[in-house]
Amino acid sequence: MELPTAIQPEQPYTVLAPMQDVTDLAFMNTIGELGAPDWFVTEYFRVYATSRLEPHIKASITENTSGRPVFAQIIGESLPDIRRTIDDLLDLPIAGIDLNMGCPAPKVYKKNVGGGLLRDVSKIDEILGLMREAIPGLFTVKMRIGFDSTAPFEAVLDLLIKHRVDLLSLHGRTVKELYRGTVHYDFIKKAVDRLHCPVIANGEITSARKAEEVLMQTGSSGVMIGRSAIRNPWIFRQCRELFSGKSDYFRPTLSDVRAYVDQLWEITGNGNIPEQNHVSKMKKYLNFIGQGVDAEGDFLKTVRRTLSHTDMMQVCDRFMLQDGKDKLAFRDEPYEGVLARPNHEGRTDKEGCHL
Ligand SMILES: Cc1cc2nc3c(=O)[nH]c(=O)nc-3n(C[C@H](O)[C@H](O)[C@H](O)COP(=O)(O)O)c2cc1C
Repeated sequence: MELPTAIQPEQPYTVLAPMQDVTDLAFMNTIGELGAPDWFVTEYFRVYATSRLEPHIKASITENTSGRPVFAQIIGESLPDIRRTIDDLLDLPIAGIDLNMGCPAPKVYKKNVGGGLLRDVSKIDEILGLMREAIPGLFTVKMRIGFDSTAPFEAVLDLLIKHRVDLLSLHGRTVKELYRGTVHYDFIKKAVDRLHCPVIANGEITSARKAEEVLMQTGSSGVMIGRSAIRNPWIFRQCRELFSGKSDYFRPTLSDVRAYVDQLWEITGNGNIPEQNHVSKMKKYLNFIGQGVDAEGDFLKTVRRTLSHTDMMQVCDRFMLQDGKDKLAFRDEPYEGVLARPNHEGRTDKEGCHL
């Protein structure tokens, strides 16, 4: 099976990482306008006895206006339910089906799904066998390099070979390492060397230059970018420009970032949610954007305290437009020490996969 053709076919792939509660239809379409990745992966569809495809995730496939392919991701371990879900997904215009073997939320891994699967190699064998048999098209896996150790890593890679998985997206951390600290790019290189299928490198790819470095270091076929695409939605465009040898690639100004904030306000408000909830929802995105606004983290501290749309936008104006700030270049890399969620980063929320 052929992988989707990249926007620049001779370049490494760029992929938006799936992020629950973030990479919904509206966010994919926004990224699509500002600088699309080569493909998207949906938030995960949960698979269990009575599960049905969640309508809002389904919409990110069926109503996607970006023109880029979308892979549907599933999380689960029950073989008959996985088969039923695959049958439902095959009716949709998907590029392929992706299995989540990386989610680190205790609530998830304790059910032996997501990252929990990495503790049970024989279960992985069964699931991959069933999925390969049920999926006539592209079958991909997104995983981490182990649960609490990397000991079974090679055995898991050999199962990907055995079951002819078409592509691996690999986050170079174990499940227990959550979302911070060193990314073991050397393990991504090991996967590239061992597997027959393309490998997409993931984890802390914070800028186009970092993407270039990671590609050099790992030999992978592309990069998957998550949190840094929330902060900098132009990152895929910048990658493409840099990969084609343009060192003066597009650099957004803080005024561009301010316009992006307005766009996010628009897209996060559907369904007429109460203003306070809408403001809270926006803070999820601003937490990441703020990492590139000022070195001291004052924008984040101030914006986190706002309670209304007017206050929030005034703070954005103050830090992004006033006193000539609008002309300043938005930093490629996040400021050191400015954390997206100082109290939570690295933990998971009550629902599931992230924070
Ligand atoms: C808010 C959030 C939600 C996530 N949800 C998912 C998910 O639904 N499926 C998945 O495979 N990974 C999920 N991840 C993991 C990301 O896809 C990615 O592997 C991870 O963030 C590392 O990439 P990054 O350093 O570029 O952010 C999530 C991460 C975050 C921060």
